[in-house]
Parts: sequence; C-alpha cells; structure tokens
Amino acid sequence: MRVFDLGTLPPVGELPDKMLAVVIRPDREGDPATAMQIEEVDLPPVGPNDVLVLTMAAGVNFNGVWAARGKPVSVFKMHKEPFHIAGSDAAGIVWKIGTHVTRWKVGDEVVVHCNQSCGQCPECNGLDPMACSDQKIWGYETSWGSFAQFTRVQAQQLLHKPKHLDWLSASSYGLTYFTAYRMLIHQAKMKPGDNVLIWGAAGGLGVFAIQLCKVVGANPIAVVSNPEKAELARSLGAVGVIDRTAVDIAKRPNETPEQKTHRLEEMRRFGKAVRAITLGRDPDIVFEHVGGETFGTSVFVAKKFGKIVICGATSGFDLEFDVRHLWMRQKQILGSHFANAYQAERANRLVDEGKVWPVLDQVYPFADTPKAHAAMAENKHKGKSTIAIQANISEWRRDPRKQP
Ligand SMILES: NC(=O)c1ccc[n+]([C@@H]2O[C@H](COP(=O)([O-])OP(=O)(O)OC[C@H]3O[C@@H](n4cnc5c(N)ncnc54)[C@H](OP(=O)(O)O)[C@@H]3O)[C@@H](O)[C@H]2O)c1
Repeated sequence: MRVFDLGTLPPVGELPDKMLAVVIRPDREGDPATAMQIEEVDLPPVGPNDVLVLTMAAGVNFNGVWAARGKPVSVFKMHKEPFHIAGSDAAGIVWKIGTHVTRWKVGDEVVVHCNQSCGQCPECNGLDPMACSDQKIWGYETSWGSFAQFTRVQAQQLLHKPKHLDWLSASSYGLTYFTAYRMLIHQAKMKPGDNVLIWGAAGGLGVFAIQLCKVVGANPIAVVSNPEKAELARSLGAVGVIDRTAVDIAKRPNETPEQKTHRLEEMRRFGKAVRAITLGRDPDIVFEHVGGETFGTSVFVAKKFGKIVICGATSGFDLEFDVRHLWMRQKQILGSHFANAYQAERANRLVDEGKVWPVLDQVYPFADTPKAHAAMAENKHKGKSTIAIQANISEWRRDPRKQP
C-alpha cells in the first residue's frame, strides 16, 4: 500500500511505501499556519536501538510553535536533515523494532517520552541522561517527530499506555506533565503543606502542576487570565485563583522610572493577593515558565529560602529581577528541563493509578495541525490539545474519568 488511510488501524506490523507527515522546511519557517504543510515522505530508517511507532495521536506543545517560527533558534541548526517533522508527544503502537531492542515487541501500546540521549556515556549511566552531551528533545532537536503516521524513537523512550485512556487523551500529557513532575518533585522537592504559586495554571504545564500539588498535599495557587481558565484551575484543585489581568506586573521593554515604580507597587499588590489565599504566607515554590514578564515578580514574592523553578520563557528570555531579594532572603533559582526516563515512568504510574488525569480540551484532525499550533501561539487554548492521526476523533471522551 502506498500510504495508510488516516483514522484507520492497518494490520499490525504491515508497512506502507510512504507516510503522511506535517513538515517544516527551512524556506518556509514563520507562522505555523504556513510553515507546517502535509507532505508524503519516506518512512524513517530504524537503527538497532530504535522503535518505529504507528502514531495514533500526537499532542501539541509550544516547541512546535518555536520550530515553525524558527525562533528563538532554527531547528535546522539543531539537526542536519533538510526537513523537520515536529511533535514531542505521541501515543501509538510499536510497529517495528531494532535488532537490539528486547523490552518491547510489535503490537505493544505505548506513550512516548521525549528525551533522547546516547545511553553510553557516564552521565547516562550514573548521573542523569538529561546531562548527556548528546541529550536532545525528540521532535524538536531531532527531525522525526510525532506529527506523522509513523515516528522513530529510542526504545528507552517508551512507556506503557495507561489502559483506561483512549488514544487521544493518552497522547496529550507526556511532555508537559513529565516536565512539571521533574520541576516540582525532583528539582524543587515539593513537600506536603508547601504553598506553590503556579503561573499559567490552566496551560499545558500548569494543569499538571496543580494535580501534582494535590497528590503531594501541597497548596496550588493558580494564576490565569480569564474566568474560564479560573474555573478549570479550581476544578483541578487550586486552593485559590488570581486573575493576572487585574494587576499590572508585566515587565515591559524600555520602561520609564514612573512605569517601574508603578510595576513595583503592582508586584506588592500581587503579593498581597497571594497571601490572602495562603493565610498570610509567601509561596514556598514559584512554578515559572513565563519568563520576561513575570520573573521579577516570581523572585520578589517567593518566601525567604523559597524556590523559583523555571523551565521556559514564553514572554521573553532576558530576565530581570532585583538580586537583593535573592541574596538577602536566600532564595534559590532552579533550572529544569523535561525529565529523564525514570522520572517519566514514575510520573506515568500516577496516571496509570488514576491519581493524575490528562486535561485534553481540543482534538484536531491531522490537516489542522498548523491551526492547533496557531491557537497555541495566540494563547487561545487551555489544558492540552492533540492531533488525531490513526486514531478516530469520535473515540475521544472529553472527561476520561467518566467511563463510556
Ligand atoms: N524545558 C522544558 O522541558 C519545557 C517543557 C514544557 C514547556 N516548556 C515551555 O514552557 C512554556 C509553557 O508551556 P505550556 O505547554 O504550559 O504552554 P501553554 O499551554 O501555552 O501555557 C502557558 C500559559 O502561560 C500563561 N501566559 C502566557 N503569557 C503570559 C504572560 N505574559 N504572563 C503571564 N502568564 C502568561 C498563559 O496563561 P494565562 O493567559 O491564563 O495566564 C498560558 O496558559 C513554553 O514556553 C514552553 O516552551 C518547556
């Protein structure tokens, strides 16, 4: 067969001549709506430690937006292929295995974590694969991501798909949930009773940060920008919600001294709004990924000896803050990036056990992959979005906690 029909389940292990993929090329980097186009391409070659997965569905992440834009850095500087298939989340079926793969077999139902590493260096074998000098995020720093009928991954990237989830929900949570897990559990060492301030609490990372707080017994304080997102954050267990549009804390470029004075007043007002929720306590942990517009406030509001854990910078990478708050009050800034396979597996167990749930809000057909990324770029989504590829959209259960 030339290519499989979308939305169908072909005989397990059968290989077509070609596959459909959403492809970004160097000459069309820019707006996701035009940068991402469907093409018919060859199947990826499978190395000895690799696995070819039939992609049932593929979750949408912000790195697809960065990849389409070619900013802040072009993906073509990160790998040598003349094309880029984005996508760092997938649920699917093992379709072919490399000669050295022993832990997985054709037909296994899996979700995929997005960290790739060499597997051979001392860092991979004693420290943390995230410290490997060849560490890469699959589907961002590598070219064969998940917005295609097949994706090629390292065998160590596979996790068992939780049986109670449909393909669409299963494809949606890995990247952001495993990132939030490492940030809060491993890096910030969140404890019961901690007050955790969560920016973008109804976004891809935030919905899992809230749920992890609940699992551990910490208090999630959600920051959002509209009532619908506030409602979602509350439904997940936020102990209080702050609408950021009611305060003017955004750090803008080239601010005047008057604007700065106003911003500092607004930061203090924001701190009061947090303390109104936490019985007067400052946050033990601030969950950061917004960057430019919020980081100064994050450092300011964290309590003495508190931690600011950061994995991204949607609103700008050049961060400015008053370092006196850091040293005088002995706060810590912790960088964090995705998760290693062990952390991904531990986090996946909580999904398997029904303690953490995917928060899938939108499912798009394959042809609308660019539209899904454009919506994310414009902050028009909440929770997670996913793309149906071989899965049928009609199988989606909006709230997987309700059995069919
Ligand atoms: N290093 C890693 O491993 C890693 C992993 C995952 C994500 N990331 C990065 O983390 C960032 C967030 O990812 P995500 O998947 O959670 O994205 P998302 O679904 O778009 O959620 C981000 C949230 O941030 C909030 N936000 C946006 N602009 C803001 C601003 N100017 N001030 C305050 N809040 C703002 C929005 O919430 P409201 O409008 O409701 O406030 C939005 O819901 C992205 O930059 C992504 O690349 C990094």
